[in-house]
Amino acid sequence: MGGVKASGGSNAQPPKTEPVSAYSNAQQPKAEPVAAYSDVQQPQAEPVPTYSNVQQPQAFCDRHEAAGCAAKRPWQETVKTPCFVVDEARLIHNLEILSGVMERTGCRILLAQKAFSMFYAYPLIRKYLCGTTASGLYEARLGYECFGKETHVYCPAYKAEEFEELLQYADDIVFNSPAQLKRFGPAARSAGKSVGLRINPRCSTQDGHAIYDPCAPGSRLGTTLEQFDESCLPLLDGLHFHTLCEQDSDALEITAAAVEKQFGPYLSSMKWLNMGGGHHITRPGYDIPRLERIIRHFQDTYGLTVYLEPGEAVVLNAGYLVSGVLETLENDMHLAILDTSAACHMPDVLEMPYRPPVTGAGKPGEKAWTYRLGGPTCLAGDVIGDYSFDAPLKAGSRLVFEDMALYTMVKTNTFNGMALPDILWLGKDGNITTVKKFGYETFKERLS
Ligand SMILES: Cc1ncc(COP(=O)(O)O)c(C=O)c1O
Repeated sequence: MGGVKASGGSNAQPPKTEPVSAYSNAQQPKAEPVAAYSDVQQPQAEPVPTYSNVQQPQAFCDRHEAAGCAAKRPWQETVKTPCFVVDEARLIHNLEILSGVMERTGCRILLAQKAFSMFYAYPLIRKYLCGTTASGLYEARLGYECFGKETHVYCPAYKAEEFEELLQYADDIVFNSPAQLKRFGPAARSAGKSVGLRINPRCSTQDGHAIYDPCAPGSRLGTTLEQFDESCLPLLDGLHFHTLCEQDSDALEITAAAVEKQFGPYLSSMKWLNMGGGHHITRPGYDIPRLERIIRHFQDTYGLTVYLEPGEAVVLNAGYLVSGVLETLENDMHLAILDTSAACHMPDVLEMPYRPPVTGAGKPGEKAWTYRLGGPTCLAGDVIGDYSFDAPLKAGSRLVFEDMALYTMVKTNTFNGMALPDILWLGKDGNITTVKKFGYETFKERLS
């Protein structure tokens, strides 16, 4: 993105610790829902927080806000479409924010590989973060082999035949229920692993995203207080909760208070507390001082090591999907068929659902030419969304979808025999490297 500035590089060291007083520039939180962590005097509001000594970028698009914040990038007209482009400068920007949180609080932050597993970037990310977290055997192996440092794993239910192999890779293993803990925990402990239990504080803090709410009624994720079994305590080194999705630290504060109220009596006997993911820490305006107060509270009160395992926050706004227009047509409105499919290349657009920002485009009707953008598959609903442009689109026009590093590359598929987008790396020097090309074999090899 033009105008984006990020200092440091692949060899850069994480920035030096910011003294707590750096937050005299921090934005005042909007509301303090729970008083527990709020006894620290809040500094006066200033509009732009400075989280590190890195220049804050001028115009980072929010995942859910209209785009139009960036000029054309030089490479967008020349790369072969469709392709993902991961932006090193923006990744470093996020990593510096996250390492600032670790340095100021002493907490440990892991990359949740479920959001981003492009291991080409792991040597860079490992300079900043403490390790990875995995959803199962394959991610654990990838983290162990390609990232190193700490490898954590949480899975709602482990497979007996995989567990021994998992023990080779994982340092910390989190179980979903007392039954899983009793079944596999003793083997994990005898292998010298740190063992945890995922708890479910039954505290929903998100509106309208039931499929992303592990605390929704009937959830299978995590052990509620009613299901908690004190006979498990000797097996446990830590507790884990994951309840948030793209949320600010006010939601964490509410959740943390619920956790403490319900599970507080057990916290002093633990070594660590993992607060999961869903923290949108690198989003402009995220209340980092409040996050740090919450972390310190648990560290100071219970002597715990606090872990966070964000996925999105690590690569937020750090990737693009470059797309080409194949054809335009009319049916009640202007339509454009792209070489990029929502169903195959950005399934979260349909699953979540959301409307990904397109560089330079407006909301429908905002600019002179409004189009419905769709993919080249047979699925009628393979529609990315309605966008407006200053000029008509035509075959060969290029569009850049923003914020495409997270939960995209990990979810692509070849439905309809669609080619997967190549994966490119935009170095902080502005050079593009092709990291991975896909072809017919990628489609074929999975099917027979
Ligand atoms: C257990 C767990 N940890 C971490 C994450 C990462 O969350 P996010 O990418 O929203 O930060 C998830 C996401 O679903 C998760 O289920």
